[in-house]
Amino acid sequence: MHNVTLIKGDGIGPSIMEVAVKIIDATGVKINWEQADAGMVAFDKYGTPLPDETLESIDKNRIAFKGPLTTPIGGGFRSINVALRQKYDLYANIRPAKTWKGAQTKFDNVDIVVVRENTEGLYLGLEHYLTREKDVAESLAVITKSGSERIVEYAFKYAKENGRKKVTACHKANILKFTSGLFLDTAKEVAKKYPEIEFDEKIVDATCMHLIMDPTQFDVIVTTNMFGDILSDLTAGLVGGLGLIPGANIGTEAALFEAVHGSAPDIAGKNIANPTAVIMAGVMMLNYLGETEAATKIKNAVEKVVEAGEFVTPDLNPNSKAGTIEMGEAIIAAL
Ligand SMILES: NC(=O)c1ccc[n+]([C@@H]2O[C@H](COP(=O)([O-])OP(=O)(O)OC[C@H]3O[C@@H](n4cnc5c(N)ncnc54)[C@H](O)[C@@H]3O)[C@@H](O)[C@H]2O)c1
Repeated sequence: MHNVTLIKGDGIGPSIMEVAVKIIDATGVKINWEQADAGMVAFDKYGTPLPDETLESIDKNRIAFKGPLTTPIGGGFRSINVALRQKYDLYANIRPAKTWKGAQTKFDNVDIVVVRENTEGLYLGLEHYLTREKDVAESLAVITKSGSERIVEYAFKYAKENGRKKVTACHKANILKFTSGLFLDTAKEVAKKYPEIEFDEKIVDATCMHLIMDPTQFDVIVTTNMFGDILSDLTAGLVGGLGLIPGANIGTEAALFEAVHGSAPDIAGKNIANPTAVIMAGVMMLNYLGETEAATKIKNAVEKVVEAGEFVTPDLNPNSKAGTIEMGEAIIAAL
C-alpha cells in the first residue's frame, strides 16, 4: 500500500484529478489517497492557501499528486506551487513532450524532455519596490554552482538511464554573464563526465526559434527555472497543447506529480478539460513508486483513446461529443 497526498486543486483541478484517481485505482494498485487542500480552495476554507494539515500530510507521505493551483496575478498570495517546490527542495522538474498519434499538430516526431531547475533563479520571489511611489521594482535571480551542478547531473543521468543521446543546456549567458554564465560554465564541466552523451548549449531566444523551426534537433534540454517554465509550455504547444504534458517535481526526500498546465479558469466547470496531462503525471508517479506494470497499462490505454480520437476532449477533436468524464471512462475501458 502506498500513501499519497492528494491535492485536487483549483479550477479544472477537481474534475481531472477525480478522473485520474479513478484510472489509477482501476489498475488495482493499492494507494491510500490522503486528501488535502491547497491554493484558492484552501484560502477560502481556512484563510491560508497552504494549511499546516497539508504540509503535515506531505511531510509524512513524501509523495503528492496535485491538481493545478490558481495564483492571483500581481497582488495576493505567492505561488503555492513555487512554495512547495522550495519547501521540499524538489529541484528537478521533468516535463516530457512527445508526439501523440491522433493529436493534430504541425510536427509528427517530437520527443523532447525539459529538465528545469525548480528551486533557484528568478522564481525565488526576491523582489520589491525601490521607491515609495512604487514606480521602480527589482527582482533578484540567485544561481548557485551546487544548484546548477545537481540539475545538470540529473539531466545527464536521466539521458543515460532513458537511452537519450543529447543534452542541450539552455541559457542567456551572453547578457546575464554572472547568473546564466555560472549555470553554463557548470553545465560544461558536468558534461565532461558524460562523454557518451552529446552536449551542446544554446541561448534561450535562439532555442525558441530552433524549437519551432525543427524540434527534432532537441532531445533533453536542461535549463534554469524561468526559462524551463517558458520552454516547457512551448514544447507542449509542439505536441498538441497543455492538456497533454505531465510534470514530475523530484527532490531527494520527496516528489510531487502534476500537470504542466494551470487551473484553466476559462474552461472550468464545463466538462471539457483534457485529463491526459494529470493522468500521465500519475503514470510518472507510478513509475517512481515502482509500479511500472500499472504505469505502462495506463500509458497504453491513454494512447489508444487519444489515437482513436472518438472519446476525447474538444482540444483534441473539436467534433468530439465526449468530455473529461467520458474520456476517463473510455480510458478505463481500454485498460
Ligand atoms: N502547476 C500549477 O498549479 C500551475 C501551472 C501554471 C499555471 N497555474 C495557475 O493557473 C491559473 C491559470 O493560468 P493560465 O490561464 O495562464 O494557464 P493555464 O495552463 O491554466 O491555461 C492556459 C490555456 O490552456 C488551456 N488549458 C490548460 N489546461 C488544459 C486542459 N487540461 N485541457 C484543455 N485546455 C487546457 C486553458 O483553457 C487556457 O486556454 C493561474 O492562476 C496560474 O498561476 C498553475
